[in-house]
Amino acid sequence: MDAIDTDSATGSGRDPGAPRATPHLLVVGATGALLPAVRTLTARGDTVTAMARTAADLRDLERSTHGAARPLARDFEAPGLREALARAAHGSPFTGALLYCPRASPATVRTLAGAVPPGRPVVLALTSEHAAPDGEAGHEESVEAESIEGDAASWSPALLPAGARPTPGCRLLVLGWRPRPEGSRWHTAGEISEAALRVLDAGPPPRDAVLGRVRPWRTRPSA
Ligand SMILES: NC(=O)c1ccc[n+]([C@@H]2O[C@H](COP(=O)([O-])OP(=O)(O)OC[C@H]3O[C@@H](n4cnc5c(N)ncnc54)[C@H](OP(=O)(O)O)[C@@H]3O)[C@@H](O)[C@H]2O)c1
Repeated sequence: MDAIDTDSATGSGRDPGAPRATPHLLVVGATGALLPAVRTLTARGDTVTAMARTAADLRDLERSTHGAARPLARDFEAPGLREALARAAHGSPFTGALLYCPRASPATVRTLAGAVPPGRPVVLALTSEHAAPDGEAGHEESVEAESIEGDAASWSPALLPAGARPTPGCRLLVLGWRPRPEGSRWHTAGEISEAALRVLDAGPPPRDAVLGRVRPWRTRPSA
């Protein structure tokens, strides 16, 4: 079974105690790994600010969601990100965010996560490289040997450096792989999106999660 270990994820995009306003989620990676999440969110009545570079893809998404997915077509590394996010949230602050931006700089990730008011859930999906064993190949082998001794699933997001979390309450979803007898594979956009939404919707206390496996490292699919 594909384990999503909700080992440490924080809060929800919905506040059950608050008057029902339409949730407004920021989704980065909205036409790729998180496209199914955008469709799920808009189908449940939420508004999404959908970020990607390709305006045509975002226009299609806007059309197919009857306007519920609002395009924010820009490169997240281009100048003016903070201002663009503030404009997108003007009059309707973000109530949460799903961020898939593996090639973004740490400063950019902090800006994206910081666009959501404190106390609201932000889920940052991290690729498996973040769970890579430290050091040289020899050291990696010793880590794997440890795994063979029954510790295969022992890696935890708690082992990530503090800097991996762009804002204090941000929930991390580490994307592992799905082992299969014929060879491991990466997760599909549907699986990543479903996991990201589970972490977003999880109640307090804040928890991180791992989707699939990140050990033994040698079972990681080739790119
Ligand atoms: N588990 C792992 O460690 C791991 C690692 C890597 C990949 N994968 C697998 O590979 C699949 C494909 O992943 P992928 O990384 O190639 O991404 P992808 O699924 O193609 O999604 C990338 C998303 O980010 C947007 N984007 C990319 N660069 C951007 C930028 N500079 N500014 C704004 N938006 C930007 C893309 O749209 P635009 O291009 O229009 O900007 C797109 O919406 C994933 O579904 C996953 O299964 C897994």
